[in-house]
Amino acid sequence: MLFNQWLAHTKPIMPVIVLDDVKQALPLADALAEGGVHFLEFTLRTDAGLQAIEEIARQRSSALVGAGSVLDVGMMKAAFDAGAKFCVSPGFSVALCEMAQHLKMPYLPGVATASDVMLAHEMGFDLVKFFPAGLAGGVPMLKAYAGPFPQMRFCPTGGISEQNAREYLSLPNVAMIGGSWLCAPELLRSGDFKRISQLASAC
Ligand code: 3PG
Repeated sequence: MLFNQWLAHTKPIMPVIVLDDVKQALPLADALAEGGVHFLEFTLRTDAGLQAIEEIARQRSSALVGAGSVLDVGMMKAAFDAGAKFCVSPGFSVALCEMAQHLKMPYLPGVATASDVMLAHEMGFDLVKFFPAGLAGGVPMLKAYAGPFPQMRFCPTGGISEQNAREYLSLPNVAMIGGSWLCAPELLRSGDFKRISQLASAC
């Protein structure tokens, strides 16, 4: 699983980005990289998301650029064609897991319950997104999952902030964390890339 190789030498932080203007893609990637953050999850909630993946894959080959909010196999295929290096989903779908395996696309399916984790394990995944982390039980839930699922590692997302990021990252079964706090809408709206770099450096 490529994620494990990437995580051996990359800050375990995944900014979840909702981009409206593709012109911000490169400056944003550069600002995050300056702060040592190389994962980039562009959600496919906007058209600019897919365009940003394409642009960054072409012009910043070392960036770990991927697609988020992937809800169906068509979206996964579009992300793959655009040059995404990985995909992320908010929930669990057997069809998406099979498609990712077919494309050899590193993939984080989303889980929220013990049954989801069992399905992910059954399908050969040992790293999954835990979403929405805060509402689905947060740190105590992840601690509870460590008992029955010693082999599973998680990327909690949803409700992660500058304030609680370290607490999540200190859990042995948390491989990485994701969230929008590094690229909050107001920072993107004002094009405050300097602040984005600072936030990336701070985590
Ligand atoms: C999402 O899919 O929107 C992410 O999980 C981000 O959640 P956050 O805005 O709470 O960080």
